[in-house]
Amino acid sequence: MQDLVGLLLLITAAIALVWLGIRARRLRNRVLKWGGIFTAAALAAVAWAFLVLASAGNIKQHGRSAPIPEVQIAGTPDQILRGQAIVDSFCAACHSKYGPLTGGMDIGKDLTAPVGSFIASNLTPAGALSDWSDGEIFRAIRNGIDAKGNWLTIMSYTNAGKLSDADTHAVIAYIRSRPPAGSMTAQPPDHLNLLGLAMLGAGLLPAGNPVFTGHLSAPPKGPTASYGEYILSYQDCRACHGANLAGGVPGQIAPIGPNLQVVRDWNKDDFIHTMRTGLDPTGRPLSELMPWRALGTMDDEELIAVFEYLQARNFAVTAELGHRP
Ligand code: HEC
Ligand code: HEC
Repeated sequence: MQDLVGLLLLITAAIALVWLGIRARRLRNRVLKWGGIFTAAALAAVAWAFLVLASAGNIKQHGRSAPIPEVQIAGTPDQILRGQAIVDSFCAACHSKYGPLTGGMDIGKDLTAPVGSFIASNLTPAGALSDWSDGEIFRAIRNGIDAKGNWLTIMSYTNAGKLSDADTHAVIAYIRSRPPAGSMTAQPPDHLNLLGLAMLGAGLLPAGNPVFTGHLSAPPKGPTASYGEYILSYQDCRACHGANLAGGVPGQIAPIGPNLQVVRDWNKDDFIHTMRTGLDPTGRPLSELMPWRALGTMDDEELIAVFEYLQARNFAVTAELGHRP
């Protein structure tokens, strides 16, 4: 259990409330007696329910597992270049706030509920990854589990696991090519507070993408809607802009993004300009919650692919099939 002090306080409060309720039975004044019993019983029930939920959350948090795949990354110059492109346009939004891949940013601060801290890890050799095998890094990206078997909460919510096998290998090749930089980030990186654990126990937090152990491939890279569909399968647009890209909904844990149907009225250049400058076609600056700095590093071909996909899709369809077979 991570928040041990909070938990002990909660147990103490729950026991004290039961005790107070029993004591109240001895009061002479009837109003005070029954009022006291009722209040103590109600508060005790809340404290015990919270405790049960937090314990269930704690069990869930340690229940994610997947095998470590056998992979050996060659690290060819082509792989490193491709890996850098994916890292810059995607992973960097969370892992490069203070320097290339040096981590340190607390994603918990951007979530819509204060459920804990989730410190994006330093992915350079100054972080924990220098002791990990290529297979362990692959498993972290694909299935959100660290080398010790802990659930990597945010990683299991991102769509990093939908990157094709080849693209995941390229990302690892690039990470391995980086020099050490920055300092060691929190290990383990996640700290769910009691509210977070209780919400997890109650099923109010997303459970993480299902574990997937098969192979994934990508369509040929080009300025096409089908390549755009692949990009949107691993980019997290839907986490913020909604499952149907028609706008996030109150109650979702990720920051709420607007309906992307607006892009229908834009042309290719408007779209590329918005993603590269953070200014929409009317000149209005987008908030920093929209990761345009990272997304804008995609090359023209990729941005056009995303644009074509947004033009081609039917915003009225609610169920969207992911790229995962
Ligand atoms: C939405 C933000 C976000 C994105 C995008 C993201 N990460 Fe992470 N990553 C995190 C956070 C936060 C952690 C800390 C553990 C957790 O909560 O998952 C983490 C942990 C990791 C770890 C485990 C390291 C350790 O020390 O335990 C690896 C490896 C990793 N990320 C690689 C990547 C790669 C590679 C990409 C891009 C393909 C990526 N991440 C994209 C937020 C993100
Ligand atoms: C972490 C949450 C998040 C992610 C991930 C995200 N967005 Fe956004 N996006 C936002 C927010 C919030 C805004 C609103 C910014 C504003 O209006 O200040 C926004 C705005 C936009 C806009 C401008 C819309 C307008 O009305 O001007 C476009 C276009 C857009 N996002 C496209 C994308 C695409 C495409 C992706 C994925 C490749 C993506 N976003 C990923 C949060 C996100």
